[in-house]
Amino acid sequence: MIRMRNFGFGYADKILFEAVNLELNPSGITLLTGSNGCGKTTLCRIITSLQSGYSGQILIDQKDRKNLTTPVIAEKILYLKQEPSYNFVGLTAIDNLLCWEKKFTSSDNEKTKILSLLENMDLRELSENPVWELSSGQIKRINLIALLLNQEKYWILDEPFAGLDHKSAQTAIEIISQKKSKYGSLIISHQNNGLLDIIDQKLEISDKKIIENLL
Ligand SMILES: Nc1ncnc2c1ncn2[C@@H]1O[C@H](COP(=O)(O)OP(=O)(O)OP(=O)(O)O)[C@@H](O)[C@H]1O
Ligand SMILES: [Mg+2]
Repeated sequence: MIRMRNFGFGYADKILFEAVNLELNPSGITLLTGSNGCGKTTLCRIITSLQSGYSGQILIDQKDRKNLTTPVIAEKILYLKQEPSYNFVGLTAIDNLLCWEKKFTSSDNEKTKILSLLENMDLRELSENPVWELSSGQIKRINLIALLLNQEKYWILDEPFAGLDHKSAQTAIEIISQKKSKYGSLIISHQNNGLLDIIDQKLEISDKKIIENLL
């Protein structure tokens, strides 16, 4: 689904990627690791068209990313950002989840479905609170519900486990591993525990390249 040909990128004072040729497993789970500052978040932003100015080619479903608009890419790819609060646009947890599902009017049915997902994530009592009153781990758990509402997309998840307690991290791993297999995921994480059993591809950014490691 996502392929890079002779891909390169740098900020004004720093080259991050050079001559990268790579295909992300289209239907499996890909783990991407690399040291702080090597360019993992930048790569997510480039793929999802939040950052421009790269060389070479990125193909999404065989189409050149440069010819795809951000909304078209958002129809195919769900990107959960590393900073959990950046994923919010609405006031309350429930408003945000309705936005994630693109249901801007909250019918009773939609609300009931989302309330039950919040209940499963032990967040029912916070559903009507403004998101800025929530802890960052609680916000991160609400982000996990956004995944459940967007199963038919490729997922790009930047550090989905960071800041989660053990139980919530386990829930996150379950959600990722139980995703419908037709649609793949790119997971950026320093935490290998629990993930190595479920991944199909392991990548590492090193010395401006993206290396595929054996599983
Ligand atoms: N908008 C920007 N302008 C200039 N430099 C930037 C910009 N955004 C990031 N950088 C730099 O690019 C490098 C890569 O940043 P990036 O956030 O992609 O790293 P990362 O691999 O996600 O790191 P982390 O593991 O800490 O999340 C860093 O050195 C960072 O300082
Ligand atoms: Mg990052």
